[in-house]
Amino acid sequence: MAEPLIEVDGLTVRFPTADGGWSTVVDGVRFAAGYERLAIVGESGSGKSLTARAILGLVPAPGQVTAERLHLAGRDLRNLTPSAWERVRGAEIGLVLQDPRFALNPLHRVGRQVEEALVLHTSLGRAERRERALDMLDAVGLERPRDVYHLFPGQLSGGMGQRVMIAAMLVARPKLLIADEPTSALDENLRRQILQLIADLAERHHMGLILISHDLQQVADFADEVIVMFRGRIVDRRGARDLAHSSNPYTAMLWNCRPSAATYGTRLPTLAAAEREALDDRGA
Ligand SMILES: Nc1ncnc2c1ncn2[C@@H]1O[C@H](COP(=O)(O)OP(=O)(O)OP(=O)(O)O)[C@@H](O)[C@H]1O
Ligand SMILES: [Mg+2]
Repeated sequence: MAEPLIEVDGLTVRFPTADGGWSTVVDGVRFAAGYERLAIVGESGSGKSLTARAILGLVPAPGQVTAERLHLAGRDLRNLTPSAWERVRGAEIGLVLQDPRFALNPLHRVGRQVEEALVLHTSLGRAERRERALDMLDAVGLERPRDVYHLFPGQLSGGMGQRVMIAAMLVARPKLLIADEPTSALDENLRRQILQLIADLAERHHMGLILISHDLQQVADFADEVIVMFRGRIVDRRGARDLAHSSNPYTAMLWNCRPSAATYGTRLPTLAAAEREALDDRGA
């Protein structure tokens, strides 16, 4: 059988606490994925983003990451040097975040930012980089890519900014794209478009896709497989089609309080204290 694209085992992230101990926020996470659309869901603080950041070598100091296995396309990502991580990010794994305002440099024009990964990761000359960047701006559905190329991020709407960030992340053709709440900052009709765009591009470029989301309905519509996290651990994994009928009590609770259009963007309600204790006792 072909090797999985991404393989994670025993992934743990912890931070030092004020009293000299450690707080474990990702706790022994294990999963493998290929080119299916994988989603990670869970309430706020369950460790979704830090799981992604650990896969990208982006857990901020003084956080500590350990893993028994952390492989991308057969390559061991543990103990990489900072410059080796630089090469992995962009060339091998792309990250799309919620808000392009934090991902794009406000002082650099769009074209330069989309080309940056090509400067870092390819030997393409200037004219070829420009062509590739323009193709990519076109592929993410931006009208008049030649005009957008010269704009600054502050001149883009939220939806345009998100498309530019996606273009910048995909231009070097990474093997895996991680999208962490890529549509949470967008209004409802843009949300679907952007997610569809990400999914289409992942398929066209034969990339693995990990979608991190609060939105269980979105995940049920777009993902193939779903991982459910609770307090730093994976408590459930199932086909997205089964999400509405999970026998897992935590997944069922998340499904039942998924936000409606009216409550979109608000954080997921957290379990009542008594329910949490019961889940903990069950070793979930
Ligand atoms: N730099 C940090 N130092 C200490 N603790 C942190 C740090 N970053 C995150 N944490 C803690 O780690 C836990 C998991 O955070 P993470 O960002 O992975 O959650 P999440 O599931 O992505 O939540 P959200 O849905 O709100 O984005 C949280 O309890 C958070 O407070
Ligand atoms: Mg997060």
